[in-house]
Amino acid sequence: MTDLSVELCGLRLKNPTMLASGVLDETGKSMIEVARAGAGAIVTKSVGREPRAGHPNPSVVELEIGLLNAMGLPNPGIELYAQEVREARKGGVPIIGSVFGGTEEEIAELAGQIAKAGADAVELNLSCPHAKGYGAELGSTPERVEACCRLAKMEARVPIFAKLTPNTSSIAELARAAERGGADGIVAINTLKAMAISPEARMPILGNRFGGLSGPAIKPVGVRCVYEIFEAVKIPIIGVGGVSSGRDAAEYMMAGARAVQIGTAVWTQGTAVFGRVCKELAQLMEDNNCRKVSEMVGVAHAGRP
Ligand code: DHB
Repeated sequence: MTDLSVELCGLRLKNPTMLASGVLDETGKSMIEVARAGAGAIVTKSVGREPRAGHPNPSVVELEIGLLNAMGLPNPGIELYAQEVREARKGGVPIIGSVFGGTEEEIAELAGQIAKAGADAVELNLSCPHAKGYGAELGSTPERVEACCRLAKMEARVPIFAKLTPNTSSIAELARAAERGGADGIVAINTLKAMAISPEARMPILGNRFGGLSGPAIKPVGVRCVYEIFEAVKIPIIGVGGVSSGRDAAEYMMAGARAVQIGTAVWTQGTAVFGRVCKELAQLMEDNNCRKVSEMVGVAHAGRP
């Protein structure tokens, strides 16, 4: 029998798929729905200190190869969102609270607050590619990544995951910094900074001009990043970017991921994607004589110079 359950920094997941931040995670109710559909864990929407309206429309462009979005971190603020986190726990799977902030201290304070609201772990959004003063602006400097993790660890008594940006010359260096700061795990990758232009309108389509590219187009970038990070750190890695099949999940695992997150495919295919990915992954594991997910993790590193 194939066993899909995984242990991740003390969290027990019935399977290695998680809902990625930003899709169907605005309310406790929608997160419960995703848990019932089969996700092994849920990452909440990224939440900040104050309510934010986000960027002007259009904020999402559907492309053949993925999604381009510049939502602009819209959220109700931690105080109101705390009740959604509490509600989401009724889904019966681990809840990972995602937070963003403008400074190391702000991110750490939010990490503490979302943990207090009931999050089983915290994901630090150090990687949104297009919100002025937030995300990747903080997360592109190793020293700041390290400080964010160190301070967050002091505020929250739950595992801390650093979600890193691929829009950098060395994501492995950022991962090492997160590990030095005491992060319990790495989430890789966030979206790639991108844009689309309408030839008819002769202007950028997104209200914010620039946005983040997700979906099938970025999977090879995500797999490469996970592969590099696996050789740079000892802490567990969660792979994200373009996962929509068991094969995609297996690729990330063989690169070094212990679990995967799914976002864009939930948007395009609905919540049934979790069940499908798990079923396909279990079959692939059986074909590879792997009884446990851990037997797949990092196997692509063997026999390479
Ligand atoms: C947003 C945040 C992200 O972290 C990302 O990768 C893309 C978009 C946003 O809220 O705009």
